[in-house]
Amino acid sequence: MHVTVIGTGYVGLVAGAGLADFGLQVICVDKIKEKIDLLKNGEIPFYEPGLKELVERNISNGRLSFSTDLASSVRLSLVIFIAVGTPSKDDGTVDLSAVEAVAREIGKTIDDYKVVVTKSTVPVGTNRRIKEIIEKEAQNGITVDVVSNPEFLREGSAVEDFMRPNRVVLGSDSEKALAIVKDIYRPLYLIETPFVITNLETAEMIKYASNAFLATKISFINEVANLCEAVGADVHHVAKAMGLDKRIGPKFLHPGPGFGGSCFPKDTKAFAAIGQEFGSPVKIVEAVIEVNENQKRRSINKVKEMLKDQVAGSTIAVLGLSFKPNTSDIREAPAITLVDALLKEGAKVKAYDPAAQEEFKRLFAEDKVHYAKDPYEAAEGADIVVVVTEWNEFRNLDLIRLKDIMNQTKIVDLRNVYDPKKVKALGFDYVGIGRG
Ligand code: UDX
Repeated sequence: MHVTVIGTGYVGLVAGAGLADFGLQVICVDKIKEKIDLLKNGEIPFYEPGLKELVERNISNGRLSFSTDLASSVRLSLVIFIAVGTPSKDDGTVDLSAVEAVAREIGKTIDDYKVVVTKSTVPVGTNRRIKEIIEKEAQNGITVDVVSNPEFLREGSAVEDFMRPNRVVLGSDSEKALAIVKDIYRPLYLIETPFVITNLETAEMIKYASNAFLATKISFINEVANLCEAVGADVHHVAKAMGLDKRIGPKFLHPGPGFGGSCFPKDTKAFAAIGQEFGSPVKIVEAVIEVNENQKRRSINKVKEMLKDQVAGSTIAVLGLSFKPNTSDIREAPAITLVDALLKEGAKVKAYDPAAQEEFKRLFAEDKVHYAKDPYEAAEGADIVVVVTEWNEFRNLDLIRLKDIMNQTKIVDLRNVYDPKKVKALGFDYVGIGRG
């Protein structure tokens, strides 16, 4: 069976290559020709562990191909996955223009029944709207069925998450379409993946409720961490003990500089906006967003306090620019607000990230930020080192060497990667998050 996946971002590309690995004939479509040309050569436009191998393997076995020609790909396929971007608008609602444009194109093109599967995260009601748009454009009486199939993959472990998901969610009104899509995911039955089969609105809700809940855990522990600082408690022990309660669970209770990335900031805003629109506000999620903004501000203040407000003229080494480790993605990364604030106050910023420097240069050119070739070059002559992303290589830095090359020996550890006692014993001024 042929399937088309429209959109070659994280979700689309991983899904396309993953489905090809399941044995399907997959065409990945994107309107950006340069991207398709890169992909045809097995080159991946962003860093994601394991993805290059997966793409190359399926190009060479002939199951994965790339095209800018949406119309012929769609005509060839029974199933079409929509995986284009759904960014936030300024008011927090979702910009659906890319999804709607794709739906119109599909409608103009089809000459036969199709199953259209939405992987993009879209507000409740969007899948029905997609069906309406396609059938209106088609005008020849051709019908389609739509299936909502939200994607839960995490960047940095996207391939593993796609190949071994915790669950697959499928929402549709059509039994026929559900059977076809279930069959596509047949390899996941073999590894006993739970399937949740439901209606469109429920599937759309599941994605937002899941992401909002995870974001809630993060904002919750961030506020607990802040309170720990005030009362002299250690948030790591608090989180550990909380997590041992099976009803709470240990994951997503790690305090930090606030969540970033392409999903949580956008999805929490969208969820809050959906609540307002339907007259059923999600107050907790509104608070989660506010707490996250506050956490970013607190992180900046931590650096300022450590410098005794002498930011102007100080040299600050920023370690980690991506919103989390193992990705080159800097969307909504806490490093952006931090670097921006420090530059505005007159600091000199030296930055190092194992994967995200090129991305960061698009926001802060090399005349504004000095990009170092390793953490030590960043720290050389610096007054303070700020750990913003917990890349593994920062966990094992040679702190004695660091001490030698720095101007002042100050560390702000926004991910709590170091043991405060050990670092202080070496003579550093050190502050983490939520540890007394
Ligand atoms: C997330 C969801 O996990 C995924 O299910 C969804 O489909 C898309 O959004 P992702 O954005 O790739 O995935 O990253 P994730 O690993 O979930 O981290 C999100 C942000 O939360 C990062 O900025 C991370 O640093 C932060 N975080 C996470 C914390 O600050 N503390 C934690 O305990 C966990």
